[in-house]
Formats: sequence, structure tokens, C-alpha cells
Amino acid sequence: MLPPLQQIPPDVVAVADYEPLARERLSAAVWAYLNGGAADEITLRENRAAFERLRVNGRVLADLSNANTRVTLFGNTFPFPFLLSAIAYQKLLHPDGEFATVLGAAAAKAGMVVSTQATVMLEDLARQAQTPLWFQLYVQPDRGFTRELVQRAECAGYAALVVTVDTPILGPRNRQQRVGFSLPPGIEPVNLRGLAPSRRRTFPGEADEALIFNSLLDASLTWKDIGWLLSLTKLPVILKGVMTPSDAARAVEAGVAGIVVSNHGGRNLDTLPATIDVLPAIAEKVAGRIPLLLDGGIRRGTDVLKALALGANAVLLGRPYAHGLAAAGAIGVAHVVNILRAELEAAMALTGCANLGQIDRSVIWRG
Ligand code: FNR
Repeated sequence: MLPPLQQIPPDVVAVADYEPLARERLSAAVWAYLNGGAADEITLRENRAAFERLRVNGRVLADLSNANTRVTLFGNTFPFPFLLSAIAYQKLLHPDGEFATVLGAAAAKAGMVVSTQATVMLEDLARQAQTPLWFQLYVQPDRGFTRELVQRAECAGYAALVVTVDTPILGPRNRQQRVGFSLPPGIEPVNLRGLAPSRRRTFPGEADEALIFNSLLDASLTWKDIGWLLSLTKLPVILKGVMTPSDAARAVEAGVAGIVVSNHGGRNLDTLPATIDVLPAIAEKVAGRIPLLLDGGIRRGTDVLKALALGANAVLLGRPYAHGLAAAGAIGVAHVVNILRAELEAAMALTGCANLGQIDRSVIWRG
């Protein structure tokens, strides 16, 4: 294991180039935690394969004067349509953990979704953040504690609440299990202090099957609870982890502000389809009533373009920025964002799109 790089090597030119650098700097156990998926990792691979299968239409001689990639989401205007997704336990990846990420995010003008299982206090992070933060919520069995957590995020200035609904139970992360991953001493979900460990719905080592089932029974979040969640906060509430048109329709009816189409980066239920493959039917069902975001497998500017073409308003980035963080700290995070941003601009220019409004299904080549 090596310390984070102080300078970016000149041959790091694509987001994927950070992956081997990150791997060199992490233990086998943390690497399994970061890069692994559930079971046979079919969904993990499929998220990528589905993007790779899609082809785009190159279109020439479009007017690209005043081209831009600006997007407004839930009251925040971002210069480009992707944010950093929630990744738990970032001190496993870099000694400064989420502080390094937020520094890099701000340098590159990216918004960041902060995990319930962050390893730094959400208030400290907000004080340091020079960029919009959204808070990712794992609803805890202790509903009073959950309410306080939401209120803390709102008071600290978080701009949206991203409620992860695809993890009532953790998928079998065989890659992690094989190397015996567990949280090392000193790394903990500090924002859940005050909750007895047995009452925490977190997913650290995931070793104890009985605890997993207990947490499922305790948590029992259902559609009926969405109204309760909405009543806790004035913040826009976004549901993360919707994968079917019918659930998307229920989410709209429930009054949420947005949806993230996500299979949790292939980490929970293996053999789910790729997110980009389920997106068109969900977009059709939602019909523009609320913004749609997508994550899972975004590695290139063309992937962002494809997601927007098939109905997303923006996307979230998971492992790639974590690789940047592990390899080079804040600089690595900012570089990953900048690479992707430049690639998106190139992809838009070469498909004849001067702004996000011009990206539609005609961008996708149908043969
Ligand atoms: C995650 N993800 C996640 N999601 C969430 O809602 N809360 C969390 O705490 C975490 N933690 C987490 C840890 C690690 C190591 C990974 C890789 C992922 C899921 C994440 O937000 C996102 O949905 C996926 O990572 C997106 O897929 P890609 O971009 O990694 O392919």
C-alpha cells in the first residue's frame, strides 16, 4: 500500500486510469469493499456493458455558439449535469476522507451527496463545503433519531435529502466476504453516534447474517412512510434506488421531488438490469413531472450524454471519484470531475448539442 500521490502522472487522462492507481494504494479488503458488487457481479458488469452497447449519432455543422452544460436541479444550478454520489466510509480510502472529497468537488464545482455513513461530522463538512451538498439518508429503526438526523442536515445547510430505498437488506457481497472485509478500528459512521450499535442500520462488515435480518425487520420502511419523511423537512426529498416504472409512478404520487434510477452500483441485488436499460421506460412513466437522475457505470462523457438522451436530467458518479480520492486525494477527485466534464462537452459538440435541452433520443443511433 502506497501513500496518495502528490502529483498526477501525465498518463492519467481518463477516469479509468485512476483505478489501478487506487488499487495500489488500498488493501485487498478495502479494494473489495470499493470495487466489488453483489454475488456474481452480473449487474455490476452489466451497468458498464449496457453503456458500451449504445452507439451515438455524430452530427455536423451544428451552431455551437454559447454552448454550455448548465443544469438547475432542486434550486441548485450546476455548471454540468453530474454530482458525486454517496459513498460510505471515505476514511478507508484517504486519511482525510470526506473532507478531501468535498475540497476536490468544490475545486471542480461539483455537487456532492454525503452518505449517512460518512466518517466525518455532517456539520463540519458543511462548514468547509464551498459547493452544494445533499444528504443521503438511510432511515434508522429509531425514527426519532432519523428525524434529528434530517433536521441536523437541514440546519447545516444541505440542499436536498436523498433517501436510499434500495437497501432494506444488504446483498451478499461475496467479494468482500472472501477477503474478510470489516471496518478497521477508528473508522465509524460518526453521524450515528448516540445510536446503540445494535440499533444502527449501517452496513459495515456485513458479517453477521442474523443482524442483517434484524435490521430489515426493524427498518420496515414502506411507501406509507414517505409522507412521514416529507413531513420532516422542507428540503426536496429524492428517492434513490428506483428501478421500475411502477415504483417511479408511486414515487411521483407520493410527492417526492426527484428519483435516482440506481441499482446501488450492482452492490445489492445481483442480476438486476443495467440502470441505463431501465431508464427509458421510467422516463416515459414519469413524463417530466419530476427530475430523474441515474447512476451506475458512468465512466465517460459519452455515458453522461447517453443517460441524458434517454431521459435523465443529471447523473451521479460513484466509484470513479473514489478512485481519484484514493489515488490522489482532493486533486484526484477534482481531476476525475474535470476529465468527465471535458468529455461531456466534446461528446455534445460532436453530436451537435449546444446545451442539455438539445440532448434527446435522436442522439442515440438506432441502426
Ligand atoms: C456506495 N453507494 C452508496 N449509496 C448510498 O446511498 N449510500 C451509501 O452509503 C453508499 N455507499 C457506497 C459505498 C461504496 C464503496 C460504493 C462503491 C457505493 C452507491 C453509490 O451511491 C452509487 O449508487 C453507485 O456507486 C453508482 O455506481 P458506480 O458509479 O459506482 O458504478
